[in-house]
Amino acid sequence: MMSSDKNESATSGTDTTTHFGFRTVAESEKAGMVKGVFNSVADRYDVMNDFMSAGVHRLWKDSLINSLNPRAGMQLLDVAGGTGDIAFRFLEASDGGHVTVCDINAEMLRVGKGRAEAKGYADRADFVCGDAQKLPFENRSMDAYTIAFGIRNVTRVHEALAEAYRVLKPSGRFLCLEFSPVVVPILQKAYDAYSFNVIPKMGGIITKDEESYQYLVESIRRFPAPQKFAEMISEAGFSRVGWRSMSAGVVALHTGVRI
Ligand SMILES: C[S@@+](CC[C@H](N)C(=O)[O-])C[C@H]1O[C@@H](n2cnc3c(N)ncnc32)[C@H](O)[C@@H]1O
Repeated sequence: MMSSDKNESATSGTDTTTHFGFRTVAESEKAGMVKGVFNSVADRYDVMNDFMSAGVHRLWKDSLINSLNPRAGMQLLDVAGGTGDIAFRFLEASDGGHVTVCDINAEMLRVGKGRAEAKGYADRADFVCGDAQKLPFENRSMDAYTIAFGIRNVTRVHEALAEAYRVLKPSGRFLCLEFSPVVVPILQKAYDAYSFNVIPKMGGIITKDEESYQYLVESIRRFPAPQKFAEMISEAGFSRVGWRSMSAGVVALHTGVRI
C-alpha cells in the first residue's frame, strides 16, 4: 500500500480530511462538491475553456495527442474525459481507434455524447459514468490511459494512479495533462493575478457561476508540483516516467508506461 500524501488527505482525530480548493473538507464530501462544480458549468464548460485560456488549451490537448501518437486500432480510455476534447482529437488522429470516455459527472458526459453524435463519432466512442478511483473496466484491458485537467479534482490521487496502472495492458501508455501550481518566477505574480482576479469573474459572466471557477483556480494551487507528481506516478508502478512543462510552466504533460 502506498503512503498517504500531505497534498492529498490528512487524518485529524477520527475524520479524514482533504482539500476542496483552499477549504478543508471531510474526504467523504469532496466528490459531491466536485460534482456540483461540473453540474453547474457543463453546458458552458467548452466556451469558458476557450475564453480563460485564450484558446491555448487546444494546443495543450493537441500536444498530448501528438505525444500519444495513436497507432491503428488503439483502445484509449480517457478518464475525467468530460465533454470529449481529448476523445475527439484521438479519433481524428487514429486509424480505426476506439475511445471510452469515463467521467464521474453525467452532465459532462451528456454534453460529450451530444458532441460525438454531431461529429459522427458515436460508433467509435463510449461514454461511461465512473470514478477514476474505482474504474469499471477489466484489468489489462486498455492500450492507453489519458486524463486531462481531471486528476486534481480526484479525492485520492494515489488510488486513481493505481487504477490507471491496473487497467492498462503491458506496454500501455499513461498520459496526464495538469496545471502546475507554479510557473517561471518572472510570471508568478501575473499568473496569480489573472487566476484569482480574472478567471472567477469571467466564470461568473460566462457560466453564471463564479464560485466554481474560484474552486478551479484554488485547486490548481493545491496540486503537487510536477516533480512531486512524477514521483507519485513512479510509486504507482509506472516506468519511463517523465514530464514536460508547457506555456512557461502553466501546464505539465506527464507520461509513463506500464511495463
Ligand atoms: C476540468 S474537467 C476536464 C474535462 C476534459 N478532460 C477536458 O480536458 O476538457 C474535469 C473533469 O473531471 C471529472 N472528474 C472529477 N472527479 C472525477 C473522478 N473522481 N472520476 C472521474 N472523473 C472525475 C469532472 O466531472 C470533470 O468532467
